[in-house]
Amino acid sequence: MPRISEKGLYMPASPIRKLVPYAEAAKRQGKTVHHLNIGQPDIFSPEIALNAVRNFAGKVVSYGHSAGNESYRKALAAYYCGLGTDVDYTQILVTTGGSEAILFAFMACFNPGDEVIIPEPFYANYWAYAYEAGVNVKPITSGIDNDFALPPIEAFERLITPKTKGIFISNPNNPTGYLYSKKELEQLAIIVKKYDLYLFSDEVYREFNYDKEPYTSALDLKGIEENVVLIDSVSKRYSMCGARVGAIISKNKDVIAFSLKFGQARLCPPFYGQIAAEAALQTPPEYFAKVFDEYDQRRKFMVQRLNQMEGVYCPMPKGAFYSLVRLPIDDSDKFAQWLLEKFDYEKHTVMVAPATGFYATLGLGKNEVRLAYVLNIKELEIALDCLERALKKYNA
Ligand SMILES: Cc1ncc(COP(=O)(O)O)c(C=O)c1O
Repeated sequence: MPRISEKGLYMPASPIRKLVPYAEAAKRQGKTVHHLNIGQPDIFSPEIALNAVRNFAGKVVSYGHSAGNESYRKALAAYYCGLGTDVDYTQILVTTGGSEAILFAFMACFNPGDEVIIPEPFYANYWAYAYEAGVNVKPITSGIDNDFALPPIEAFERLITPKTKGIFISNPNNPTGYLYSKKELEQLAIIVKKYDLYLFSDEVYREFNYDKEPYTSALDLKGIEENVVLIDSVSKRYSMCGARVGAIISKNKDVIAFSLKFGQARLCPPFYGQIAAEAALQTPPEYFAKVFDEYDQRRKFMVQRLNQMEGVYCPMPKGAFYSLVRLPIDDSDKFAQWLLEKFDYEKHTVMVAPATGFYATLGLGKNEVRLAYVLNIKELEIALDCLERALKKYNA
């Protein structure tokens, strides 16, 4: 039998999805598995987007432009301008989800062996895209006791080598829920300018800013306009994860032009997804108000409930819909598997994402898990009751 590639062998498994076979086995045994492991919300997608797809009257599901439909790019640019971030449609390349935007951006901006600095814990798939593009990730640890704030800027500077070509942030952050302040971003901008780095800013959770603190997009930072590469997606904004529509937004013409070559090779972004995404831009404000309130209630409920448990610490996330939680456990991977394989309370159990997969530094995250508050409060309550009982049993 021919052998699999080394690239395939060493491709990191997703900490969010790698335990799926155990969850499936648990379900086959009749257990209800409450999924706190994945950012798949139960929130309905906007009706206006669903109707646009239902009412599509064309006769051919055709290829489109590799950069995405011009009408969608123009509408998305207008959306950003409405948020106060100046964007022109020529600065947008539509992609198959934010995932492809990250991969294309890495491919267009880095040579194999180049380095990207990422505050950890970070969204685990960054690791995978960097690996695919041959980019070395240099982590810089942000700590739970500091609510995962941006590490001191001197620590970033210490990591910069001749190979360093970029810094990558997610704002609000997945997995920590931290929202970077204008001051923190301006500090980053100083070193981005000084060393002429790319600043990749993943802003797919931009609208999920629960305390309504002023939001600074990396695109609004002065003096580094051509260094910034923004990652956009409809997955979370409209609870349309399956639409698979994202975008690279950059004022750097080369980033758009060279990413487009990767876009041409995959022909075009999804046809129906773009129809839904364009229509979703007309979603009435009441939809967002309701969704926002729902997440905010879940956030407060989950954090309060977790902090009542013995030995558990959960900082209050300001954005996105995740918390990185410290648990009284020694090995989050083992614990997550044990929850699915060995534990149930009245036939219920929970699936969590072990935090080890969100850290690049070996050994970190062993007593932490990421929880996504994507379930309604009633289900969250059952899931968290299960978790509390599980912790007692695991430690007994
Ligand atoms: C921070 C972040 N960036 C990017 C993505 C990719 O999203 P998608 O490819 O669905 O747009 C996700 C998905 O969970 C995410 O959490």
